[in-house]
Amino acid sequence: MFVPLAAVVLLQVLGFANSQGGCGETCPPLNYGTPVPSLCEGDLAENYTNIDRVYETCHPTVGDTFMFRDFMGAGRVTVVSNFYIGCNAGRRETGVFTHVAQRYYQQYGDRTNFVTSLKGGTNCERWAGIWQLDAITLFPDSGIVPREVPLTVLDQDSALRDDFFTAPFPHPSYVILDGDLKVRHKIVGPCCGFESFFDCVADTARGLEQTLTRYIDAILAEPVVESGMEAPPAEPMVPDPAPGDEPATADSQCTWSDWSECSVTCGDGIQFRWSTGECEGAPVVTQPCSMAPCVEDAAQCVPEFGATHEVVTVASGFDGPRDLAFHPTPGFHLGNFSEGRPFYPDEGEEAWIVNALNHSVSIVASLGSPRQTTISRRDRGYYHYMINATALAFNMVSDSGRSSDRDSFNYWAVCNDDMNTYLGLKEPNNFMGPTLYNSAPRNRNIVNRLGEECEPDEECFFLHADMLHEAPGCIGMAHDPELRTTYGNVYWLFDTTGNQENGQLVRFDFQQPHGPGSMDHSIAAVRRFPDVQLTRGDPGVHAGMIVHPVTRELFISVPGENKVIAVHADSGAYARTARQEYPIFSSRLPSFEYSIWECPEQRDFATDIDTPTGLAISPDGERLFVAERATGIIHAFEIKSGSKLFGIATGYSTIGGMEFSPTSQVLHFVDEATNTLNAVRPNSTCASPVPSRVNPSFDSMATTAQETLGRDFSLYRDYECVVDALIPDAIYFDQVHDDTGYASNDTNVQSNMTGMDASAALLADRFDCEYDSELNFDALLLGGYFCHQCLPSGGAECDPGGRCANVQWDGYTCDNEFLVVQDPSTDAVMLTYPDHSPVDMQSVMLKPGVTYRFTVKGDITACLYDSPDPAANPIESGCMTKGPLLTSIDAGSSRTFDQGVYLRADGELIMLPVEQRRLRS
Ligand SMILES: *[C@@H]1O[C@H](CO)[C@@H](O)[C@H](O)[C@H]1NC(C)=O
Ligand SMILES: *[C@@H]1O[C@H](CO)[C@@H](O)[C@H](O)[C@H]1NC(C)=O
Ligand SMILES: *[C@@H]1O[C@H](CO)[C@@H](O)[C@H](O)[C@H]1NC(C)=O
Ligand SMILES: *[C@@H]1O[C@H](CO)[C@@H](O)[C@H](O)[C@H]1NC(C)=O
Ligand SMILES: *[C@@H]1O[C@H](CO)[C@@H](O)[C@H](O)[C@H]1NC(C)=O
Ligand SMILES: *[C@@H]1O[C@H](CO)[C@@H](O)[C@H](O)[C@H]1NC(C)=O
Ligand SMILES: *[C@@H]1O[C@H](CO)[C@@H](O)[C@H](O)[C@H]1NC(C)=O
Repeated sequence: MFVPLAAVVLLQVLGFANSQGGCGETCPPLNYGTPVPSLCEGDLAENYTNIDRVYETCHPTVGDTFMFRDFMGAGRVTVVSNFYIGCNAGRRETGVFTHVAQRYYQQYGDRTNFVTSLKGGTNCERWAGIWQLDAITLFPDSGIVPREVPLTVLDQDSALRDDFFTAPFPHPSYVILDGDLKVRHKIVGPCCGFESFFDCVADTARGLEQTLTRYIDAILAEPVVESGMEAPPAEPMVPDPAPGDEPATADSQCTWSDWSECSVTCGDGIQFRWSTGECEGAPVVTQPCSMAPCVEDAAQCVPEFGATHEVVTVASGFDGPRDLAFHPTPGFHLGNFSEGRPFYPDEGEEAWIVNALNHSVSIVASLGSPRQTTISRRDRGYYHYMINATALAFNMVSDSGRSSDRDSFNYWAVCNDDMNTYLGLKEPNNFMGPTLYNSAPRNRNIVNRLGEECEPDEECFFLHADMLHEAPGCIGMAHDPELRTTYGNVYWLFDTTGNQENGQLVRFDFQQPHGPGSMDHSIAAVRRFPDVQLTRGDPGVHAGMIVHPVTRELFISVPGENKVIAVHADSGAYARTARQEYPIFSSRLPSFEYSIWECPEQRDFATDIDTPTGLAISPDGERLFVAERATGIIHAFEIKSGSKLFGIATGYSTIGGMEFSPTSQVLHFVDEATNTLNAVRPNSTCASPVPSRVNPSFDSMATTAQETLGRDFSLYRDYECVVDALIPDAIYFDQVHDDTGYASNDTNVQSNMTGMDASAALLADRFDCEYDSELNFDALLLGGYFCHQCLPSGGAECDPGGRCANVQWDGYTCDNEFLVVQDPSTDAVMLTYPDHSPVDMQSVMLKPGVTYRFTVKGDITACLYDSPDPAANPIESGCMTKGPLLTSIDAGSSRTFDQGVYLRADGELIMLPVEQRRLRS
């Protein structure tokens, strides 16, 4: 198995302590990143969560449903717990919780409710059963045998945790709610801080019983105030039978339907038959079928391309554009002024193009309007966070219903086609994956070189909100518009490395982003789908991916196999942990889910497409557009029938990503060789669209079968598939990190922004920068180095000829940048260094061969001259207010700056001498 040694070292470096600092009950929890509002004592649950959300239990009864509103009522108590599975110490408490739950149930019926959840990386039947056995083992003499409670939810989206506990609140933990669903207590369990199951001895764990009992009894003893909502009588309730358990009706004998008609009216399709009653095997069986070939009619068209169309270049000058995405809220990121340039948020649309060759994003603002202009922006650590990025996607879901402080609408992510080689300087360690950003301009999502919130007059850089590391060599990515997770940060990725034989589909849920400035990756869920085998095409070829918002099918271009496949985004099941087979991952804490999911529903949607790349779904959801890179054709498929309806030749030979513009609804695509963004503009409406090829008879039979069989109905499920389960070994999980040395709170080696790394301060003196040296470059980033001798170009990017100086944890400065500011006391115009320290005009000396940046702040207008003559014209970069002035002192140019560089501002003249000797040589 492929396990680079580097990975082991890496995991130690990256194994951060829980930022909450151990097991404190501080609420809201202490967080290095963006603070997230959190449910704390005294808060009403309904202020933070949707108390009408329907949860389904997987234990003790499969398929019962409840919502928290059901638990309201005077005199009632609800306890919610948060555990992680495995052989963690925290699991000790599950048995105590289960015991307490049953004891109250027997005495108070559903006046008390106990809710617990299993997160996605597990299997309900196995663990809930273990908890019940633990309860008996821990309280052998109590006579209490858990049967009816607690209500266990298979919470694959970690929604219960995210709604009630808000990381980094430690675990195991408990929220005790009263009849108004007000939080009366929020506590951390006694096993927090212990490492293994056996470290937290039974007596310690049993301490939870006393704590819970004290709090619950106190609430139960409170006088019940008449509020219209009566507490239910204190008698045990009989659980409702689950829907599946209803007595079999008369027609339980096996009946098979006839074969359906073929799914299509022409070309190739499928047909199916289905069964009711007690039949052997799969309830749905399909087989291929063929009708007469589809006839092309030249008079017909598809609406998106009109009766006639033209392919026009709408923007150009990119650097290896691989993908584009339209910003859901034009102007949101740039505002009306950024980097000294005006923008017009109300005019036109906004396309973001990812440049794989210089690791940047080009934002085409006011696209399609006379104000159209392009600005390029990147990450200060582009060589890790945005390296050869091949796909870019936004969260476009504007109406998710999530509370606004948790909604990730307007967030975006890139996926990086790289093995983490720092531009080829370092041995690949495969620690690479998608990077998440928040496009909101405030809150340090864009920063200046020093890491301060970027002002509109400064050069700005993206600062990532989160990053995960389980998909090196990624060539495709789609945001999942699902509404079930608390934050909405689910992305699907095309990982070309997979199991080192073929690539794989991987689902990333960033969950709660760590926020700008933090490096805590312990809250996330990453699921590998090894059954979905993917193959890349030639290096650098983008693979389109898109989730259909209604059918929830994920379409994936597989360039290496000349086909487009469809995978149901909600299908498949947890099989086992991925930590053993895929040993490079972001965090060893149990809150980080890294799992293998098997048996997803998948099918070939379209085959024989010569290198499919960009994908786009028509605004009405009916058609899938597929770019065929090798021929330059864009095909239109009817999604429901899978039938190819239409195709147009674009004349381009390196088409990458495609997307419909959200307002004008025009299909756009990037072309790599020509560095262009292009649009397929209809000239006139399509009067005679190609008719649907769906066979209505097939469709209605499928609807009937679906209504009868419910979740058991699928045309694409492999009913024979069973997941290959395996009990996770505790050695792949760390419960706590307190004793690893990385939890030092010495401010010299840790930042309150970044996390902690005891060895960080020592990294400054490392010169072993070689390709195969022991120095881990990721550790440099984590250690707060933006400027370091080992990083590409010394790490930080200064304008040409400049040298950087690291400002640990925050950023860097460049010796060729000055600020032009007004002296606050005298109002005189003066120069400072980027850290605001004044420039000593006696000692400053500009150098030939260097480009200098003067960032003009405030209301000053500054101009650059090469002569002190008041009649001289400014040099060509001219004058600037609130923005950068750049000039290069170039020995070869006509401008010699013989006498120095002159900066005139508000009537004052500042002279900067230029080193003459070397200029003349
Ligand atoms: C719940 O939210 C409402 C409206 O935002 C606020 O007025 C109230 O104080 C909140 N109550 C609690 C207990 O959190
Ligand atoms: C579409 O319109 C443009 C100008 O409006 C014209 O040059 C082009 O020939 C038209 N294309 C077709 C296919 O009619
Ligand atoms: C990347 O390349 C494009 C196209 O040449 C250019 O406009 C942009 O400024 C470059 N960006 C960076 C950060 O170098
Ligand atoms: C630009 O935006 C700022 C803040 O949103 C606003 O105060 C200003 O008036 C705007 N300027 C123009 C020219 O629209
Ligand atoms: C990655 O970027 C480098 C330039 O920094 C370029 O030379 C290389 O071809 C790119 N690789 C891919 C796969 O795009
Ligand atoms: C650092 O940790 C030590 C021991 O845990 C504690 O006594 C000290 O107060 C902490 N210092 C800071 C600055 O938090
Ligand atoms: C980091 O901590 C210091 C001292 O507690 C505080 O002054 C500073 O504001 C903090 N910085 C950030 C960005 O939170």
